[in-house]
Amino acid sequence: MAKRSVWGSKTGFLLAAIGSAVGLGNIWRFGYMAYENGGGAFLIPYAVALLLAGIPLMILEYALGHREKASPPLAFARVSRKWETIGWWMPVVAFFGITLFYAAVIGWCMNYFVFSFTQAWGADTSTFFMDTFLQVSDSPFNLGGIRWPILAGTALTWLISWAICYREINHGIEKASMVFMPLLVVLTLVLVGWSLQLEGAWAAVKEHYLTARWEKINPFTADGSKVWVAAFGQIFFTLSLGFGIMITYASYLPKKTDIVGNALITSVLNCLYSFITGFAVFGTIGFMAASKGVPFDEAIISGPGLAFVVYPEAINQLPAGQTLFGLLFFLVLIMAGLSSAISLVEAFCCSLIDKFSFSRKKTVTAVCLLGFFGSVIFTTRAGLWILDIVDHFVNNFGLVTGGIVECLLVGWVLKAAVARRHVDQAGGLKLFRIWDVLVRFVTPAILIIVVGFALYSEFSGNYGGYSTKALLIFGVGWLVAALVLSVILMRYPWDSKRLTHEHEPEEDHLIV
Ligand code: ALA
Repeated sequence: MAKRSVWGSKTGFLLAAIGSAVGLGNIWRFGYMAYENGGGAFLIPYAVALLLAGIPLMILEYALGHREKASPPLAFARVSRKWETIGWWMPVVAFFGITLFYAAVIGWCMNYFVFSFTQAWGADTSTFFMDTFLQVSDSPFNLGGIRWPILAGTALTWLISWAICYREINHGIEKASMVFMPLLVVLTLVLVGWSLQLEGAWAAVKEHYLTARWEKINPFTADGSKVWVAAFGQIFFTLSLGFGIMITYASYLPKKTDIVGNALITSVLNCLYSFITGFAVFGTIGFMAASKGVPFDEAIISGPGLAFVVYPEAINQLPAGQTLFGLLFFLVLIMAGLSSAISLVEAFCCSLIDKFSFSRKKTVTAVCLLGFFGSVIFTTRAGLWILDIVDHFVNNFGLVTGGIVECLLVGWVLKAAVARRHVDQAGGLKLFRIWDVLVRFVTPAILIIVVGFALYSEFSGNYGGYSTKALLIFGVGWLVAALVLSVILMRYPWDSKRLTHEHEPEEDHLIV
């Protein structure tokens, strides 16, 4: 059995974990989620979701990965072989349900980076995005052929991910994160500063981003409950929870490590990053609305196209520095996206390596090839529609159910107190007993309610106005296919030596 790699340094691990968390979700997805869900009002459920689900689950995933020194399937199987299917479900759903479209969206960003040189999007950025660039078809079933420039960007994304993940964790992902992350922070701060001094930007931020309209988040109204579901889904997406990534990353940590401190740093910095980039998003929309003389709420299209319509539009209105602003914005997106894409690839590859003892190089090559071919569907003219449906179902059901199950596994099967004792033994900040209550009762109960709300809203009207057939095939079908694949992978027998793992003796004698 090959020796497990270890991160070269604590900073390297943290940058990689923050790199995974900070991604397209923080800029592209957070922007349109907040815009669609009441602007500033969205921040309240978002903060609640961070406290009640995000941070407890981040600690849980780090603790589980570190204790078992394993990717999710092996970690789950070591706690209880019966639960292994869900250990597969996480990386499988994340890989097939997120990475495939994620690579295509980075491909969009690469194209827009090139368009920035000449502002190729022209005066009507919405028509350009939908009709010239994506050439969207009239339904998710009408694939209408591949958009070659998007395919090229997607292929480049897979190539870069392959080149980074091909090398051991401390050489590939760790080194890449050490370059990506500092650069990303500097570029983002420049972008936010620039956006905020645009005319009308600050006023829009104050009115639409920093002012909470309480009536929008009343969970007992149909619209209000959707905002809560969106906020919990966004917390999972943005913190890379329920993907198996954080379990995998923690499995490469040395024996002595500060699990609580690392979890707090990763979660808080990630959400702070989103909060700060929100100033740029809302400020830029405000600037655009002011320059065009239209109301803020009507300034742009909502949904996944937001960043690709609003930024080019705002760039058009800039008095100077148009090219530079465009390059800056799309470079920020590309870098944030790549540092997350590599973590998504790593979680799936590590799971396969742990189970089948394949070599890293062969696994990464095969997975990236598979990923590239899988992404092709998102580069077709129906790509935007399929992406929107898959993303909706994977976030609201796939990731959250993974979160519920891991609470039950760690809270009840392994026992929260055993996990907490492990965290304390590893060193660093002490984990309070309240965490046991959270992961055993509070977090799973809230997540079950969130799934209930999500189901209710699914039955009260078709998401996004798509046909029931489209939602069943691309949404429900995608999740069912992931479950079937997880069961198949689970049924393959383990090399029994792999399932045994020595823990600290005190833990085995712990009375809980
Ligand atoms: N956490 C990653 C993001 O937010 C997947 O984009």
